[in-house]
Amino acid sequence: MKLFIDTGSLKDIEKLVPIGIIDGITTNPSLLAKEEEDHRQILKRICDLVRGPVSAEVVATDAEGMVREGRDLAAIDEHIVVKVPFGPEGLKACGRLRADGHRVNVTLVFSAAQALLAAKVGASYVSPFVGRVDDIASDGMRLIEEIVEIFDNYDFATEVLVASARSPMHVVQAARMGADICTCPATVIEALFKHPLTDIGLERFLKDWEKAQAVKA
Ligand code: G3P
Repeated sequence: MKLFIDTGSLKDIEKLVPIGIIDGITTNPSLLAKEEEDHRQILKRICDLVRGPVSAEVVATDAEGMVREGRDLAAIDEHIVVKVPFGPEGLKACGRLRADGHRVNVTLVFSAAQALLAAKVGASYVSPFVGRVDDIASDGMRLIEEIVEIFDNYDFATEVLVASARSPMHVVQAARMGADICTCPATVIEALFKHPLTDIGLERFLKDWEKAQAVKA
């Protein structure tokens, strides 16, 4: 499973990318709004650092505007994936941007029916928001199970990009279900590294080694 960082922060990216586990980046208007720099400049710098797919979202609400904005975003760098919101206008824009040869991520997906419609217009990625489904006392990961099953049934090329992942368990469950990608904040990716037995084990190895060196000296 590919792992993306859901961020607009260059700091997050500079910290995690050198480890070699990051395959791409997703951004959204809320994340980019937190940054001081102009969004086009940030997106360009992210693309230079990652060299994998970088989702950049349109803010227009009509298909015409989304296509215009999408083309403009795609011109920033060859790694840009245009993100459009789910809905009739978003799907119309998705079809047109795909016909232009751009990759498109259909976002704000909250049901298997929506994911199916996005796949039918050739979306490169669908982004079901698992954390936000959990927030309304429903089962976000069940949604991923359903989408993976439907896409497998029909061999859709659309990749399932698990979004709004809020915990390491979301990541592990996404991988068990065969999702293509999981995107999460840097804090969740950092939490994937942690296990108390790793820390205790390392401490013990180093202590034993030091002790032995002192005896030999
Ligand atoms: O980028 C979309 C998604 O990952 C947002 O997550 O935590 O704001 O629901 P969250």
